[in-house]
Amino acid sequence: MASLEDLIPTVNKLQDVMYESGIDTLDLPVLAVIGSQSSGKSSILETLVGKDFLPRGTGIVTRRPLVLQLNNIPVDSPLINSNNAKSSSNSNNDDDRKTHRTEDSDTESIDDEDEDYEMTLEDHLKINNGGSKTNGIKNKNNNSKGKKDEWGEFLHKPGKRYYDFKAIKREIENETERIAGKNKGISKIPINLKIYSPHVLNLTLVDLPGITKVPIGEQPPDIEKQIRNLILDYIATPNCIILAVSPANIDLVNSESLKLAREVDPIGKRTIGVITKLDLMDSGTHALDILSGKLYPLKLGFVGVVNRSQQDIQLNKSVEESLANEEEYFSKHSVYRTISNRCGTRYLAKTLNQILVAHIREKLPDIKARLSTLVGQTEEELASYGDIGMIANENRAGLILQLMNKFASKFISSIDGTYSDIGT
Ligand code: GDP
Ligand code: NA
Ligand code: MG
Repeated sequence: MASLEDLIPTVNKLQDVMYESGIDTLDLPVLAVIGSQSSGKSSILETLVGKDFLPRGTGIVTRRPLVLQLNNIPVDSPLINSNNAKSSSNSNNDDDRKTHRTEDSDTESIDDEDEDYEMTLEDHLKINNGGSKTNGIKNKNNNSKGKKDEWGEFLHKPGKRYYDFKAIKREIENETERIAGKNKGISKIPINLKIYSPHVLNLTLVDLPGITKVPIGEQPPDIEKQIRNLILDYIATPNCIILAVSPANIDLVNSESLKLAREVDPIGKRTIGVITKLDLMDSGTHALDILSGKLYPLKLGFVGVVNRSQQDIQLNKSVEESLANEEEYFSKHSVYRTISNRCGTRYLAKTLNQILVAHIREKLPDIKARLSTLVGQTEEELASYGDIGMIANENRAGLILQLMNKFASKFISSIDGTYSDIGT
């Protein structure tokens, strides 16, 4: 039986197939992160992933949309020990795993160039069968070195695993420059990055350039308009959940993200507010009214977070440490203590996961209709391949078809209300 946790990974796979085959008609549900420059967007994404992996700097750092797919894999996923991925899919043997990890630890710090592993679409499909039981962001109790259970993959570097998150950061920078130039332009063409980890919840998020007022350096004078249009492009579709980030130390009426969100979602039914920098508010003031939804109406509500400060980053405070500090901040705060179970990045991750699942569920009939059309088209294409020389293509089309049918059979029945455990 289909599990709800499979919904997001399956939609992610569909998304990949769509990107790869140049089909852009499915319009699958996503979460888009918007906010003014320095409002804390990157900090939120890094905390959701539990790693430093996003480029930092002054000016416009995010100049291409970053489509970030977080994939929760079980700690004993066959995918973790990459080179054995194909042979050890049923291995549940502890000793077996230990051996692989010891081997892995020898190569841990070696440059990522050596870590290539061809991942086939079949391997991707296996993730859906993994049945992610390890739900939730978990603290790693011991940072066992050499345990390569977290990695990134770019769609533009198929099959290559990045275990070194600094290398991910560099690749995002390189890819940004490749398409959007050295330091000025922005581009609508997204960078697609997947993160696999036992410590993330299944989520698909799009990081967008920050809303800016003043052109810097060689930026074109209409940069503000360009960025606004790019953001609007993404958030205008009804299948987009808007994550509107606003820093707590700026009056909410001046929030650029909420202004922009309101343009496409006037009644606030698909916008969730995130209030950052609660720790930077003037002493004696707090955001309880905002967080409890009394100040600004959003159906999905507001969540408050405290990310690492610039100083924390300079002092190399880890994302994990920051998560622990954040929890302590809310549970000990004289005002937020009462709502601390609805504050912080862990709660945000859980909420976003539930919102996305509920949203996908709601859109299933729609997705199903468009999928049927696509399956029909793909079948026709497959039939036209007749030749022996087209076996590679046939395999590919066959896999796409398999994936689509799998999606259809697994989730279409759920429209009849098989699931009842969703709530936000
Ligand atoms: P972005 O431009 O929206 O991606 O913002 P960043 O995530 O890069 O954050 C901009 C700056 O604000 C960085 O120096 C962060 O360390 C800092 N920052 C972000 N969130 C918080 C927060 O909740 N509290 C504090 N004190 N600083 C934060
Ligand atoms: Na904002
Ligand atoms: Mg940023």
